[in-house]
Amino acid sequence: MIIKSWNVPGPLNLPIIGAAYKFMIRPENMYNRLMEIQEKYPDGVKLWFGPKLIYFLHKPEHIEKILSSYKLVQKDEAYNIAIPVIGEGLILAPVLKWRKNRKIIMTSFHQKNLDQFVTIFTEKSYILNSVLEKQVGKNINIYDFLTKCSLDTLCETSMKLRLNVQNENNSYGYMFDKLMQLIHIKLGYLWNKFDFIYNIFGYEKEFRVLLKVFHDLSDKVVQEKQKANNIEEDILYQDSKKPQVFLDCIVDSGQFSSNELRDEVSMFLFAGTETAASTLCFVFAVLGMFQDVQDKVLQEIVDVVGLERDPEPQDLHHLQYTERVIKESLRLFPVASLFGRSVTQDTDVGDFIIPKYASVYFGVNYIHKNAKYWPNPLKFDPDRFLPEEVEKRHPCTYIPFSYGPRNCIGKNYSMMNMKVILSIVLRKYKIHCAYKRIEDIKLKMTLVLRFKDGAKVSVTLR
Ligand code: HEM
Repeated sequence: MIIKSWNVPGPLNLPIIGAAYKFMIRPENMYNRLMEIQEKYPDGVKLWFGPKLIYFLHKPEHIEKILSSYKLVQKDEAYNIAIPVIGEGLILAPVLKWRKNRKIIMTSFHQKNLDQFVTIFTEKSYILNSVLEKQVGKNINIYDFLTKCSLDTLCETSMKLRLNVQNENNSYGYMFDKLMQLIHIKLGYLWNKFDFIYNIFGYEKEFRVLLKVFHDLSDKVVQEKQKANNIEEDILYQDSKKPQVFLDCIVDSGQFSSNELRDEVSMFLFAGTETAASTLCFVFAVLGMFQDVQDKVLQEIVDVVGLERDPEPQDLHHLQYTERVIKESLRLFPVASLFGRSVTQDTDVGDFIIPKYASVYFGVNYIHKNAKYWPNPLKFDPDRFLPEEVEKRHPCTYIPFSYGPRNCIGKNYSMMNMKVILSIVLRKYKIHCAYKRIEDIKLKMTLVLRFKDGAKVSVTLR
């Protein structure tokens, strides 16, 4: 490995620990440290953590070689830290299990099914509107509201469970937020890998409490499913067009034990709630920051959907400017800002060979702000996503949902859901943001990318 990795640059390696000293920092500073390292080595960098060799790839050609390969779909072992939370659900599943389960789960993400979810997206967006009524004119952290909206939507569209957490006073928003932070603290502070130290700081106790809340939620979903006659189902859908939701697909396949079923439910709640809510926080923030953009989005919504009617699936295809705004927000704020693979065979990426047993990471946040591909990278410009502009770029210069066979299965679902939420919310509220420029937003990494100082958004009635 040492010889094969020789021609790739990287920071000074100290005996035994390698470059791990670079990461002996507070987890909230991790974001800046990673950006510094990536900026210093724009064509890719290697880091030794003791005996472990990690590459950070930033060149689109290198990224494509790894992410498009059907052979390199094994997640890096660092992901194992999330196993107590989501078991070996799809996102962490080892390769053989992943291949089988991905096929089964994907059947619930066909466009025909997604179209049927639009009524649910709409209903949940109206509830969000009514919950926000009490917040008009106040400075709020919109994260909590959007997390509950995402959770309600995900449970109903994927599992036919009407959770209705938006209308309740409950701790689900806090639970997701804090669980992400606690896992990140374990991952980020090297010494927290030792359970007794994690314990001494009191993290373990809080982690256990929150994990129970989370697993109780997953159990509730599974139990509801097991009640054979789901009355809600018949109210929600006419018999002729019941969508096969995610949970139906895995139960009907008969290939999941009850533990595996719970793992998949937990994985789904985790993968789908936080990412969607955090992305929307950033979209709301940029709309609040750039009122002209917000006006244009609203105008498009009024032109396509009108002022009174509910959005329909075909409307969503016509919300092209809105889509570009969401894409540009995800460029600047890719919530899944770092993900990695384990390299299971020597792999030639063009300029060098990545040896078997190494890990590769993709620093999405750096890739999306590289001036070589994104001139004036901090400028918010949705027209970067006009088809003729997209054509000029390598597809791996923009990977908010990853790329290739192990990409995000919720990509189209999320885009449709966000368009519906914006259609309903913007017709009623004007959004404002305490931040005035992209540069004012300081970021931190938990498992997903977050505002360091909260999503400071407010709404006023139109
Ligand atoms: C804007 C919102 C979202 C973003 C930015 C996002 C991003 C991502 C990324 C980058 C990955 C790859 C992670 C990795 O390789 O480690 C991923 C995987 C995944 N996402 Fe999403 N995601 C979003 C929403 C959703 C939603 C709403 C769902 C469910 C409905 C979902 C379900 C999944 C699943 C199941 C995987 C694992 C796929 C596999 O390993 O085969 N995501 N997502």
